[in-house]
Amino acid sequence: MLLEKMLQSQGFGSRKHCQQLIKNGAVSIQDEVIDNPKHKLDLNNLNFEVYGKSYTYREKVYIALNKPQGYECSHQATHHFSVFDLFDDILLNRGIQCVGRLDQDTTGLLLLTDDGQFLQALTHPKKHVAKVYQMQTADPVTDEQIQQLEQGVELRNEKGIFAATEVTRLAENRLQITIHQGVYHQVKRMLVAVGNKVEQLHRAQIGALALPDLAEGEWLYLNTEQVAQAKFRSE
Ligand code: URA
Repeated sequence: MLLEKMLQSQGFGSRKHCQQLIKNGAVSIQDEVIDNPKHKLDLNNLNFEVYGKSYTYREKVYIALNKPQGYECSHQATHHFSVFDLFDDILLNRGIQCVGRLDQDTTGLLLLTDDGQFLQALTHPKKHVAKVYQMQTADPVTDEQIQQLEQGVELRNEKGIFAATEVTRLAENRLQITIHQGVYHQVKRMLVAVGNKVEQLHRAQIGALALPDLAEGEWLYLNTEQVAQAKFRSE
């Protein structure tokens, strides 16, 4: 691939802008400045620098964020910050999108990607990728509520029954559940449907991928194995 095209694919701006960066001597590979935009590259294990900052070539990006409270999953956040505020322009230029949504007050594992197929694989209603949530509840969780969640509840304006699996009481007012769909405010509405209320919600896992060891607001690139784990379906 041509150097100018590679830079453009990685989010460094228009083809023209990338040509200019290269001609200005801003780009180097293995400590050698390359000022020819038409320089041909081998993309395998390619590392490069732009203005002294190191980058790795990635055909697509898969990101795990530990989402903090007070961040919305939309670009034009209205009352809160946007999760996209947590990423630099280079990544934003690649058109990364949230894989599904978390409410502004929900914390935990949020995936972002510029791979449309991956996004589709995880969010398509028929794919049923499991999501594990932990929550603090307003009232103690009763055995009856656990049973009802496992049997399934109806949600207003939604078709079908919404059931949870692997429902585990972690403490009197703490619950962990796995859900396999992803309708609007699903977990909060399921808890209301059984007569309780979510006070705090945290997503701990998607597919077989547990939230990596990240502080709130921190993120990392997923490796190939982690990408496969996120897509994992147990049924
Ligand atoms: N269910 C909810 O109610 N909120 C979330 O953020 C995610 C799942």
